[in-house]
Amino acid sequence: MPAKLPLLDSLYAARARDAMPTLKGAAQADQSPLLSLTYGLADPDLFPRDELAAATAAVLADDAPDALNYGQSFAGLTEQVVGRLRAQGVEAEPENILVGYGSSQILALLPEVFIDRGDTVIIEGPSFMGAVRRFVMSGANLVTVPTDHEGMDVDALEVTLRDLAARGVRPKFIYTIPTFHNPSGVTMSLARRQRLVSLAAEYGVLVVEDDAYGELRFRGDDLPTLASLDAEGWVVRVCTYSKILAPGVRVGWAYARPEIIERLNMFKHEGDSGPFLTRVIARYAAEGRLEAHIAQLREHYRQKCDVMIEAIAREFPREVQADRPDGGFFVWCKLPHGMGATALVDRAAREGVSFLPGVNCYANGQGDDAIRLAFSFLSADQIQEGVARIGKAMRSM
Ligand SMILES: Cc1ncc(COP(=O)(O)O)c(C=O)c1O
Repeated sequence: MPAKLPLLDSLYAARARDAMPTLKGAAQADQSPLLSLTYGLADPDLFPRDELAAATAAVLADDAPDALNYGQSFAGLTEQVVGRLRAQGVEAEPENILVGYGSSQILALLPEVFIDRGDTVIIEGPSFMGAVRRFVMSGANLVTVPTDHEGMDVDALEVTLRDLAARGVRPKFIYTIPTFHNPSGVTMSLARRQRLVSLAAEYGVLVVEDDAYGELRFRGDDLPTLASLDAEGWVVRVCTYSKILAPGVRVGWAYARPEIIERLNMFKHEGDSGPFLTRVIARYAAEGRLEAHIAQLREHYRQKCDVMIEAIAREFPREVQADRPDGGFFVWCKLPHGMGATALVDRAAREGVSFLPGVNCYANGQGDDAIRLAFSFLSADQIQEGVARIGKAMRSM
């Protein structure tokens, strides 16, 4: 094949010509020779292999004609999702749920339904770049609202909404990760959650509540989800089995008003998601197995998080600020004044370790003053070694 097909570029649709190269993201970590604290990979030691094998065998034995044919996502899984939502105080019904191929698919469908080129989306700074990239590629104009140790700065959000309204701009949605934020690890306080939901209603803007890590709390008490605080239906809640079961199953779901679910479905061109896998997950999760598994994950990740926090206290210069998260996969570290994250990436690579520089988590070019470390994937020994190497790189700067 010739290296480049002449004139192929002019065949691409404009949106494909302008598209951003695919991020290999977590998939890259396996190939990297570096000790990687970069990606929020689940710990493979905790995949419930035997139970999943048993669930798969049971589905094939009892239900193969429906499980292996064209067909709908398994209604039994939707019922389980509804049950979990009701336990969180959300009055959910099956028509409020859309099951998709990971929450990434749901996050990609949202701009299809809501964004015309030039529309405004409000995001947190920092934020989950996977979602932000999707919104950028849809042509959205992203407006960043800052965050602090209590989550999104809702005073700044109000000012932003007021300023936009004064210019005749009504944002389509506010994208937030209120619990165990990726990348910052922060959890939004109850007062801010209440204020965010009431501002959304006041300004008529949807809130996309991405709660990928919410069930992985290892300290403190659960806070109400944004969906449970929302009496009017402005919140779209997006969740995933990736962090509580296994990312490889690629199953996530959205909760929203039925008319929004119906719209999202119109753009889900492959139809329903995985009649086979949705049955396997439902079979696996039944009889309290998923809850028991989540309890085990919480304890396991708590220990890893503690190992990382202790290693940071031991190995990093005292000026580095790292808050201990109450759950999730990440520790966010603010670097000493004058130390750039991008430069630190290069130094750390020479020491044989990688992490995510903060700039990757902002849509507005900020973030060179912070780095994200994932404690989810590596063993306790590797975490200590990785943090020690980053500490060495920091001291050499
Ligand atoms: C905040 C957040 N949302 C969504 C996702 C996507 O998860 P998935 O597509 O595996 O459900 C991730 C993955 O890292 C994430 O961190």
